[in-house]
Order: sequence, then C-alpha cells, then structure tokens
Amino acid sequence: MAAPLNLAPNFFFLIFTVALLYVAYTIPRHQPRETNLVFYVHDYLTGQDASTVTVAGKAGPQSSILHFGTVLVVDDPVTEGPTIESREIGRAQGMYVNSQLDGKGLHLVFSVIFTGGEHEGSTLEIQGADLFSMEEREFGIVSGTGQFRFVKGYGVMVTEFMDIANLRAVLKLNVTVRHY
Ligand SMILES: *[C@@H]1O[C@H](CO)[C@@H](O)[C@H](O)[C@H]1NC(C)=O
Repeated sequence: MAAPLNLAPNFFFLIFTVALLYVAYTIPRHQPRETNLVFYVHDYLTGQDASTVTVAGKAGPQSSILHFGTVLVVDDPVTEGPTIESREIGRAQGMYVNSQLDGKGLHLVFSVIFTGGEHEGSTLEIQGADLFSMEEREFGIVSGTGQFRFVKGYGVMVTEFMDIANLRAVLKLNVTVRHY
C-alpha cells in the first residue's frame, strides 16, 4: 500500500520562497538623493576684479561678448549670498560662447568647483543655453564629481544684478540635482 503523500516539505519550500521574494522586493533600493543648492556667480568682464578674458571672436580678443562668435574664458567667484562680501564657496571655471546670430544668446560650459561649504571638494558640470535677456534661463547639470558622482539635474539662472555698460553681472543659480 502506498504511503500517504507527504506535502510538508513542499509547503515549507513554498513559505521559504514567498519569504525570500518578500525580502527581495522590500529591501530599500539605492535611491537617488535630491539636493537643492542656491549660489551666486560674479561675472565681471571689466574692472580691477575682472575674472574673465575674451580669447577669440570675429574681431579677435577685442570682440564683445555681446556679439556672435565671441569666446570668453571665466574663473568667476561663487558665493553663498548675492554680495561679493558673502562667503566664497567656489569658482565657476570654463567658457561662454556667444552662439546666437543676433548676439542675444550664450552657450555656457563650466565647472562649479566647490572650495568651501558643505560641498567642498565636489564639482558640478554645467552646460546650457543662456538667453540672457530672459528673466529665467534653465540649464542642465550634466555630471559631477565627489558628492555629485552620477549627478543629473537642472538649474534656473536669474540675473540678480546687471551693469550692461560695464559688463558686470551677478547671477543667481538655483540648482536641483539627483545623485547617490
Ligand atoms: C529654487 O528652485 C526651486 C524649484 O526648482 C524652488 O522651489 C525654490 O523656492 C527655489 N529657491 C530659491 C531660493 O529661489
């Protein structure tokens, strides 16, 4: 006479499998963190404290950044607050290229290198169009280093102060990024 089928091992195997799947699906994923940063870039093309140099353009290094084709190299102070006296937390180093035929648009490519504050030692790589007569311009955060490895995000730039005659401006950058 056949022994009655013993279902107990199968039953325990089923419970074990269900428990394993439950754990696998509920373990917290490596979720990206979202960080918001607001900082100010002091962009002075003239004066004792000028931190930019025009390197090329239709009229050579004498070209105006307000004309199509001009290339400017920048190493601008980045501060916590809108005034230059506020704490410097980094530098914005890179290039602006006037890339709109009517002269009213720049292409920005620069690194924000944090030298102070909570992100010291990290960088954000910024790239985007700056149609500077617009109130707000959105740009991309394409990568980063340090705390900002694998970063992705966007920022909104607003002109905080502008002296167009002397080409001196303070820009407020409000950046939202996701990183690990
Ligand atoms: C920065 O932008 C976010 C939206 O992206 C907004 O909620 C926040 O109020 C802005 N912060 C400042 C200081 O402008």
